Amino acid sequence: MSKNQISRPDPKKFRIKSFGCQMNVYDGERMFEMLIDQGMTDAADGEEADLVVLNTCHIREKAAEKVYSDIGRLRKKDGTSPMIAVAGCVAQAEGKEISRRAPSVDIVVGPQAYHRLPELITRAKTGKKALDTDMPAASKFDALPTRGKQARPNAFLTVQEGCDKFCTYCVVPYTRGAEISRPWIDLIDEAKALVDGGAKEITLLGQNVNAWTGQDDNGKTHGLDGLIRALDDIPGLKRIRYTTSHANDMTDALIAAHADVGKLMPYLHLPVQSGSDRILKAMNRSHTTESYLEILHRVRNARPDIALSGDFIVGFPGETDADFEDTLSIVREANYSQAYSFKYSPRPGTPAATMDDQIAPEIMDERLQRLQALLNEQQHDFNIQTIGRETEILLERIGKLDGQLVGKTPWLQSVHVIAPGLKIGDMVDVEIEAAGPNSMTGRIRERIAA
Ligand code: 5AD
Ligand code: SF4
Repeated sequence: MSKNQISRPDPKKFRIKSFGCQMNVYDGERMFEMLIDQGMTDAADGEEADLVVLNTCHIREKAAEKVYSDIGRLRKKDGTSPMIAVAGCVAQAEGKEISRRAPSVDIVVGPQAYHRLPELITRAKTGKKALDTDMPAASKFDALPTRGKQARPNAFLTVQEGCDKFCTYCVVPYTRGAEISRPWIDLIDEAKALVDGGAKEITLLGQNVNAWTGQDDNGKTHGLDGLIRALDDIPGLKRIRYTTSHANDMTDALIAAHADVGKLMPYLHLPVQSGSDRILKAMNRSHTTESYLEILHRVRNARPDIALSGDFIVGFPGETDADFEDTLSIVREANYSQAYSFKYSPRPGTPAATMDDQIAPEIMDERLQRLQALLNEQQHDFNIQTIGRETEILLERIGKLDGQLVGKTPWLQSVHVIAPGLKIGDMVDVEIEAAGPNSMTGRIRERIAA
């Protein structure tokens, strides 16, 4: 008898592995809370899970293929397979194909349907395959348990999902669907619950977070700046961040918030992707290098110390040496505190995948290396500039050394400190003593009242 027909016991212990972006981390946390709410327990380190949820990413081929090698490794000690659920964007994009390629998968659940995971588990228990990649009109968020105690002081809050921009390389409009903004009141309530649960910092998430729009209790329409200002009023919340933004949705009002909302951190993730206007057009980015730089100028006028982050793709179809040099030029001009850069990866169903002039892998490798060398240099320079500065950090995790904790500066740099008597979630004033390419060390000056 094949595994498909065997009914299985109730899964009691589960494990969730999230890959990819912060929105997946958020979804993973919501699934975690839901399974706990169902009476299941998190499988501790070294313990065998009866249910493994792989919360997957489809943005580049490597990430998407990883799920299949991971599935292959999921075996219990007795040789049987745990119940396996594939969630996230690979589930949405590949659907039934997943069970065909990996027959040990029991459940396939898309990013808009994971609130139905308990029903899917019930179905899988009967030995049947369970697939749900619906994008229902009703919000999954309404069906999820309210937020409780937080494992981390830096919480994520998805405020916006999906994308209507259709950049020609990107799968997001297909895997996450059309742009939707979650309602004002739901977000205020969730933010308050996160703070009650111990969060000190909230990062507002969305594929196009700065396109968020909603109406407050009085029916007044706001953009993301209005939501940020409302969150600024929550006592106990110390820091607000948001990611990721599109240049075209960077409104004057949001830029102004960087000047006058005390809790809004001086950090902006604003991808440009390429420094060549010809390539930006082929990418359907709908902004130019000039309009991007002009936005940066205004943001820096509002908040001179803002740390800039971005995303880059090298080797988009048709990218010439001159186009790539233009990317290096915009990096020099914009000056990043850190950034993410990727080799172009053709994604099935996207317009760029069938464009002429796909770039050879060795050219992409060489360009990526040169771009990353420049970005690393800028990151290191940014870190070096903070040596000697006194700043506040939020302690977020335990470090490798005895008594060491790691916190984040307002500019999102990691700082290692020896912190006797302090704990994760504390905010402390530190003096930055040394800076490496990726992180810094500091000395504690004073603890800030909670
Ligand atoms: N290939 C390479 N990088 C991609 N990204 C999105 N789609 C692709 C692709 N097909 C990058 C973009 C985006 C980030 C999240 O991932 O830089 O901003
Ligand atoms: Fe993808 Fe472009 Fe939308 Fe970002 S803006 S999610 S890169 S389609």
